[in-house]
Amino acid sequence: MRSLKIAPSILSADFSRLKDEIQAVEAAGADWLHVDVMDGHFVPNITIGPVVVEWVRKVTTIPVDVHLMITDPDKYAAEFIKAGADWVSIHPDTCANPCATLDKIHALGAKASIAVNPDVPLERVQGCFDHIDMILMMTVFPGFGGQAFIAEVLAKITEVRDLIDQQKRAIFIEVDGGIKTDNIARVVAAGGEIIVSGSGIFKTLNYGATIQQMRRAVGQA
Ligand code: DX5
Ligand code: ZN
Repeated sequence: MRSLKIAPSILSADFSRLKDEIQAVEAAGADWLHVDVMDGHFVPNITIGPVVVEWVRKVTTIPVDVHLMITDPDKYAAEFIKAGADWVSIHPDTCANPCATLDKIHALGAKASIAVNPDVPLERVQGCFDHIDMILMMTVFPGFGGQAFIAEVLAKITEVRDLIDQQKRAIFIEVDGGIKTDNIARVVAAGGEIIVSGSGIFKTLNYGATIQQMRRAVGQA
């Protein structure tokens, strides 16, 4: 069985107490920390820049997983990696040559991932499979935390799982958007292994209990 990794998205955290929130999810059993970077151009929302990532890095020891929803990752990836990003995801429509951008992320010392929006077919990113360590399957349209899970993406997650297994590739499948205790089992059954959850964790009262419940739901308590 693939081991489940839970990656709380700090977008839904209380930013007035960001350090406490990060340390609370880490103590609650979070495996990675997901950081949603939005620039108001690629998506209609503005969130976090490299300055914040630098401080996040200082208060946690778990991997920092930066999801770039910005128009120019070629220009900014280096700053996020310098700030401490271990993983960097890009959206293919934001760069002229996604494979080259992914190679650049590797050259800068981070792991590289490509994101697939709910309405984007896998064929659009398959050409980059030699250049990624992870594929980020979006189960909402990027832009905001707290949106409803798009269940139609499950079939595409199974499709990418089969493709990766058939080709014996070392590519993680991360799934992001609307995942909570009540649907995580379906996401993992479809083939997801790194599970992002923002409101599903930070909007609950007891992070430890929620993460435990997620692990129990997939039979990995
Ligand atoms: C959406 C972001 C997600 C989001 C997850 O644009 O990429 O990471 O913050 O939050 P929830 O789990 O609340 O959908
Ligand atoms: Zn995200």
